[in-house]
Amino acid sequence: LLLPKPSPPPPICNPAIKKESPKVADLVEIEDLAKEKISYCRCWRSSKFPYCDGTHNKHNETTGDNVGPLVLKRKEK
Ligand code: FES
Repeated sequence: LLLPKPSPPPPICNPAIKKESPKVADLVEIEDLAKEKISYCRCWRSSKFPYCDGTHNKHNETTGDNVGPLVLKRKEK
């Protein structure tokens, strides 16, 4: 009897950020926006996580991916 091979697990998104934690979540209160604009990493490869350090550019060039940051901007009054 030949059984089908089990499917490999899907690849992980997060290669290195806070791996000791069962879930990585970050809270941002709007009052925390001391700067006019701030970028949050969505590629899971920033050395300044949760902030974007531009590492997504190298990741995109290397892999053909198209990830980028979440940019929060203070609304102009
Ligand atoms: Fe991850 Fe920019 S470094 S989105």
